[in-house]
Amino acid sequence: MKTFPENFLWGAATSAPQSEGASRIDGKSDSTWDKWFEMAPERFNDNQGPQITSDMYHQYKEDVQRMKAIGMNSFRTSISWTRLLPDGQHLNPKAVAFYRDYFQELKANGIEPIINLFHFDMPWWLMEKGGWESRESVDTFAYYAKTAFQAFGDLVQNWTTFNEPMVHIECSYLQGYHYPAIHDFKKAVQAGYHTLMAHIKAVSEFRKLQIENAKIGILLNISPAYAKSDAPEDLRAKEIADHLNIFSFLDTTVLGQVPDFLIEILAANQLLPKTVAGDKALIANNPVDFVGMNYYQPFRVQAKLDGKQPAEDPSDLYASYVWPNRRMNEYRGWEIYPEALYDVAMLMKTKYHNIPWFVSENGMGVADEARFADKTGMIQDDYRIAFMQEHLVQLQRGIEAGSHCFGYHAWTFADCWSWLNGYRNRYGFYSVDLADHQKRTVKKSGLWFKTLTENNGFEA
Ligand code: NOJ
Repeated sequence: MKTFPENFLWGAATSAPQSEGASRIDGKSDSTWDKWFEMAPERFNDNQGPQITSDMYHQYKEDVQRMKAIGMNSFRTSISWTRLLPDGQHLNPKAVAFYRDYFQELKANGIEPIINLFHFDMPWWLMEKGGWESRESVDTFAYYAKTAFQAFGDLVQNWTTFNEPMVHIECSYLQGYHYPAIHDFKKAVQAGYHTLMAHIKAVSEFRKLQIENAKIGILLNISPAYAKSDAPEDLRAKEIADHLNIFSFLDTTVLGQVPDFLIEILAANQLLPKTVAGDKALIANNPVDFVGMNYYQPFRVQAKLDGKQPAEDPSDLYASYVWPNRRMNEYRGWEIYPEALYDVAMLMKTKYHNIPWFVSENGMGVADEARFADKTGMIQDDYRIAFMQEHLVQLQRGIEAGSHCFGYHAWTFADCWSWLNGYRNRYGFYSVDLADHQKRTVKKSGLWFKTLTENNGFEA
């Protein structure tokens, strides 16, 4: 039997823009997603935009019962910035009432809310002023964070500032998947730096409020880099990739330091961001209490021998590599490598003074998943159960080796809207029928999760 520590958090995650819908009612203003969909609906899979998504705005009470039914004792979602502060300054009373009731409902049903502040949903009014490219975004975000802490601090003990800041920056400024969808490495670094400072100032506001028993963290995507070989060029490529993608946020938010090697790489490529006097001290004085790690797949790298100098893209600094032994999620095209979760557990223990952390996302996306439904309509997702169980085996090994992991959150509770991909890849413990008022049906994995949480572990 593989068992987990007492009071382990078993749950699932989602975000406001991906699950709530109701994006243009009750006083909410537009985020970049609402506007982008209006401007270019054809970019979104099946023309599915953020307006309805899974309709949790209206169905959250029933959804809390569904969470309870599959044994969840915790749930992560986010607050929509443009719902809470439609113009950036004035509180929307309907948003306060909605989130208070939502969080109370969770708590009354024994489900601990973990509440995040930013999940890729930049307010349009701030985007018009430059979004994360502008230094103004730092204090603007800190004000929003403080407002949220004050409005819900009596209900929420576990706060996080950002979900996957690196993904958002790369998708916005390098890869074209998030608005403004441009390609500019220098702007990417500057926007990333402002995101970091926004996080740091939000933590500083949080500390000033001294909310009893409350903790604050950040949610980071972690795809550890594995080098093709032990050749020094490949190992250097791994170091660069890890510094840009992982250590940039982990070292600054946990250890309070910007890694020297990162500064060296940025300087060598004329990418150093503009900073403000006092930033260094703020970074040093505002470490987080815990970290969430979103893990899906590893990153295989090798040296890039002919990249442009100075680099115009991260791919000028390292190259990806297809590991010949890899196993694949054939329904989504991602590598499956559960062992990385053990490596992450060890990284947290050794490099990050064994800070408390949890798996804040892990899961398997499947395209066209309705084909796996049985006669009753229940999706028989044995592939997802196998995926999660394999990852839990590695996580448990890491915990046994002393890593301070306090929870596991699957992505996701119910199938949700996923940005430009719309509803293409399904991840939920519940399926959502878009043709029938977003009707939810539990999948086999939901029932498996219930047994897992009841036993606080599983036979392996
Ligand atoms: C990470 C992100 O946090 C979430 O928004 C996304 O839908 C999932 N991964 C699945 O790709």
